[in-house]
Formats: sequence, C-alpha cells, structure tokens
Amino acid sequence: KRGGSDDAKRAAGESAAEAVSDGMIVGLGTGSTAAHSIRDLGRQVDAGLDIEGIPTSFQSRELAREAGIPLTTLDDARPDVAIDGADQVADGQLVKGGGAAHAREKVVDAAADRLLVVVDPTKEADVLDHPVPVETIPDARQTVADAVRELGGEPELRAAERKDGPVVTDNGNLVLDCDFGAIAEPGALATDLSKIPGVLEHGLFIGLADEIHCGTDEGVRVETL
Ligand code: A5P
Repeated sequence: KRGGSDDAKRAAGESAAEAVSDGMIVGLGTGSTAAHSIRDLGRQVDAGLDIEGIPTSFQSRELAREAGIPLTTLDDARPDVAIDGADQVADGQLVKGGGAAHAREKVVDAAADRLLVVVDPTKEADVLDHPVPVETIPDARQTVADAVRELGGEPELRAAERKDGPVVTDNGNLVLDCDFGAIAEPGALATDLSKIPGVLEHGLFIGLADEIHCGTDEGVRVETL
C-alpha cells in the first residue's frame, strides 16, 4: 500500500467529508485515502444526508455503490465539491495517477467548485519530484516517450502487477511514469505535457486544489489555498 498509516488516511478522509452537506453533488476521488471519505459519506447517507456522488474511476464507483451513495454523472450535474487523494503535494500543486485514474479525476476535480485533497504526511514535499503518470493512447506510446525524453524526463511503461503486460486504464490506454527529478516549474511542465500528441492526460494538477487535509496519527492539519 502507498502512503502512510491507515489511521492518518482515515483522519484526512473523514475531515474532508465533514465539508459535505445536504443537497450537494460530490466528486468521489480514487485511492485508499479518498476511500475513507466515500465510506464516511456512505454512513452519513445512511443517517439521512441527501447527496449525489460523481465517481472518478471504476474503483470509486464500486465503493460508492457499496456504501449506498446515490450516483449521477457529469451529463446531468456538476460537483459542488470533490474530495480526492494525491501521490505528492507541494505548494498546493499535486502529482496524481498512482492508481492510473488521473484523467477522470482531473475532469471531475476541475469541474468541481472546490477540490479538497486528502493526504498523509508521507505525501508532502517542498518540491514535486514524484514521477508524473502520463496516460497515452496505445498507438502513441513510443512517440510520447520520445517527447517526454526531449522534455528531460525518463519514461517507463507501467507494468501490471497481476497480469503479464502493461496497466490498461479505465479508458483503455497505457501509462508512462515519467521521472523528471525535481520539477522546478510544474506549471510549465504541465503545459508542455498537454501539448504532446497522443497524451490523453497527465498527473500534474496545477491550481486545482482549494484545501489540503493532511491526516496524522495525532489529528488533521487543514491548509486553505
Ligand atoms: C489515483 O490514480 C490517484 O490519483 C490517487 O488519488 C492517488 O494515487 C492517491 O491514492 P492513495 O490515497 O491510495 O495514496
């Protein structure tokens, strides 16, 4: 499992879930920390909370269904708030996509009025240096890899853990984990990656987060951006 303790993740997930109130549409993030928010929201729905969720992945949709959260889609609604995890946070900017869900996450998180990010201290950094997941349409993986190298990155095709061959995303694409070392200008890199033909979406989330809820074993630190 990635990240810190489950208690820290739960503290963060439940802290962000407190921001949800009756009548809201809620973007439901992916990963082990956002899962705590989804379970907490499910318990609140059991107790009468009236919300609808918009999942960001197969995983979060299944979890929300199990938790009893009524679902809608971006065809019919826009999230008032989205709650999502991250693989690394620095200065309010994020690297996401450790679960290969970053394309739908970015669509839902960007459509939300507010994005609450749920992390534990192992995700915090002064400068982003986590490899950036780049979802690429299958035919473009070599040309995208070349372009990433030209930008100074080292791309590696993400392998599946319990299948021979690569990870295939919920959208039927491949993921290149691209190591750029310390990323001095995340905004500029995000723009450059978005311009590469064949890139569906990358995991740099720039200027999207409104609050960081960092759970520790002692409590939750909330940073408002
Ligand atoms: C999914 O692709 C990711 O963006 C997750 O939101 C991110 O990896 C955080 O997951 P954890 O909370 O499990 O670390």
